[in-house]
Amino acid sequence: MKGVILAGGLGSRLRPLTLVTNKHLLPVYDQPMIYYPVKCLVNAGITDIIVVTGGEHAGDFLKLLKNGKHLGVRHLEYAYQEGEGGIADALKLAEEFADGEKVCVVLGDNIIEKNIRRAAGDFFTQRSGAKLLLKEVPDPQRFGVAKFKDDKPGGPIAEFIEKPQNPPSNLAVIGIYFYDFDVFEICKTLKPSGRGELEITDVNNAYLQRGDLTYDILDGWWTDAGTFDSLIRAANLVTEGGANRVDPDPARKPARQGATA
Ligand code: DAU
Repeated sequence: MKGVILAGGLGSRLRPLTLVTNKHLLPVYDQPMIYYPVKCLVNAGITDIIVVTGGEHAGDFLKLLKNGKHLGVRHLEYAYQEGEGGIADALKLAEEFADGEKVCVVLGDNIIEKNIRRAAGDFFTQRSGAKLLLKEVPDPQRFGVAKFKDDKPGGPIAEFIEKPQNPPSNLAVIGIYFYDFDVFEICKTLKPSGRGELEITDVNNAYLQRGDLTYDILDGWWTDAGTFDSLIRAANLVTEGGANRVDPDPARKPARQGATA
């Protein structure tokens, strides 16, 4: 299985910070944001990775990540997304790289506490389709949300709704997705949403309609880092320990009691 990190988009919710750099190069505590999804994949044993990015600062990813060896990556590729056509638009650029294999797609601004190795192993043996990870959140309006059949959270899913005003549950779809190679055909059928983007939620609904989607509830904390509030939250969670991250310099003192750094 190959790894796809989506780090395009304009990061407009983090302006003015993102006027001079790419959102995914901003620090989350002591490391650039992009290190966390890279380590998330590497820690799950997925070391053949493509980073899709865009914008004016795309070249800085090469300066930082180089060939990825220092992060445990075996093979690293890059792709450039023109404009900000959405998550599924960015994913399209990974088709050649995936070369018929299954993919684990991680959004570049998502950070989790624990290891996804078990979910990756389960998907490896899943014959086809998609696998998602859900997490209970206090603010489901901000995310793709699962609507359950008979309103029974944890049971079969009826539909995914992107940023619902009246969320049908508080289980959000986190930005780590497992797909078979069909995902690239599905992406080609998508039409832009009201906000002008090819939505990953439409991809997930397509798999649901095929009856070929499984899900787990994520163990441990999860956050995105694409707004000022979630960026500081991400940094605070990281200092509490457990995130998929690069081992810090052992000589450095912890920032505060209980920190792992
Ligand atoms: O964090 C999980 C959520 O991510 C999901 O629950 C939602 O269903 C999903 O739509 C997404 O929501 P956001 O509105 O938070 O996505 P955002 O536009 O912030 O993009 C998330 C990442 O996707 C971003 O860090 C980089 C990548 N991306 C995004 C766009 C719009 C791209 O690579 N290219 C793009 O054009």
